[in-house]
Amino acid sequence: MSDTTDAPKKLYIKTYGCQMNVYDSERMAEALGSKGYTETQSPDDADMILLNTCHIREKAAEKVYSELGRYKDLKAEKPDLKIGVAGCVAQAEGQEIMRRQPMVDLVVGPQSYHRLPAMEDAVREGQKALDTDFPEDDKFDTLRKRAKTKRGPTAFLTVQEGCDKFCAFCVVPYTRGAEVSRPADRIIREAQELVESGVREITLLGQNVNAYHGHDGGLAGLIWALDKVDGLERIRFTTSHPNDMDDALIDAHGTCDKLMPYLHLPVQAGSDKILKAMNRKHTAEQYIRLIEKIRAARPDLLLSGDFIVGFPGETDADFEDTMSLIRDVHYGQAYSFKYSTRPGTPAAEKPQLPDDVMNDRLQKLQGLLREQQVVTQDSMVGREVSVLFEKPGREAGQMIGKSEYLHAVFAHAPADVIGQVRRVRITSASSNSLGGDLI
Ligand code: 5AD
Ligand code: SF4
Repeated sequence: MSDTTDAPKKLYIKTYGCQMNVYDSERMAEALGSKGYTETQSPDDADMILLNTCHIREKAAEKVYSELGRYKDLKAEKPDLKIGVAGCVAQAEGQEIMRRQPMVDLVVGPQSYHRLPAMEDAVREGQKALDTDFPEDDKFDTLRKRAKTKRGPTAFLTVQEGCDKFCAFCVVPYTRGAEVSRPADRIIREAQELVESGVREITLLGQNVNAYHGHDGGLAGLIWALDKVDGLERIRFTTSHPNDMDDALIDAHGTCDKLMPYLHLPVQAGSDKILKAMNRKHTAEQYIRLIEKIRAARPDLLLSGDFIVGFPGETDADFEDTMSLIRDVHYGQAYSFKYSTRPGTPAAEKPQLPDDVMNDRLQKLQGLLREQQVVTQDSMVGREVSVLFEKPGREAGQMIGKSEYLHAVFAHAPADVIGQVRRVRITSASSNSLGGDLI
């Protein structure tokens, strides 16, 4: 037995990558809470440092190794400090992490972090612990209840994990595994627990969230079930695949008041040849028709997307097709990336484009997306929005929250607006935020 079990200890978690990792980090902190850990914001006074990592692009994985390098001195000063790597780099590289960085004590994949308390016992006894299984015992069954702490007004809730789509560039089907949906009743219970802790807005998360099938009515059915949760005022979901945007979900965007008018619907590219090579299983035209249908249901919806430039085989003409799709659709906000080769994915076998071509295309694409974002932001001036206030802003007396369209909104307001949805008239716009007055 470890003599340190359950003694008060400090945990520093650094989270990389997507919102699913943010959610997982919260759950890992709760799991280690049973071993006496409370969270600290500084690695210097931690008894355990946990990096919750992302493997989606090469740079994301490299960041983890350089961060680990920074803890070398700290570990030399404090031999009892334990260092762990969680998340998708842990899943993909496993033992290799301990080989590259021998100071790492613990490696845990995204499907096995409910076993962290037992792994912590092992590392306190001086062993190394590695678990990158896709275990039979479901982590959400083991980690049933959410910790009863006071929370801010917004929270993430993972409803679905993994992906069966196998886009040719993407590691997710390998690191997160096959699509698995959590049962709706468990999600509703967790939503109720979050609301009891002060949450007013829940973002449902999944790598392929609209493929959710834990409710007979799919994701739309789950949203309607959550619509009945008293005290829950707003529902969002991310990330979706165009081929899973069914009619019921589109309809919910037009009819469910709690479902916010914002949709992140990645298309990745606008050339049919590249979409086919990416294994996206839809054409540019089908995506554009889908957007028209969604906008018919909810005309003011703010659309967001993801784009990859420089996928193997992308010509200038293919790139122009992506630019043209962006002009047709008009995005309020978007994310764009240079193609990054991921070992083990089908596209990694193909000849890569020169970096200067990719850089040039990324710059052009981001220029166009920025223009569209500015137009969208400016169009909000003079309009009224509903803002869920989340926290104080930097200026005295200023509060910050999110509009229904997910704009960051600043307004002068009393501190008790935090946790409330208030109407705000927008008076100014910058590229990333809006300013306004309480009505
Ligand atoms: N290279 C570049 N971008 C990628 N993405 C996923 N895999 C890669 C890759 N290999 C992007 C996609 C996805 C987002 C989460 O990350 O645009 O939608
Ligand atoms: Fe990756 Fe998304 Fe494609 Fe799944 S749908 S393989 S998560 S890009």
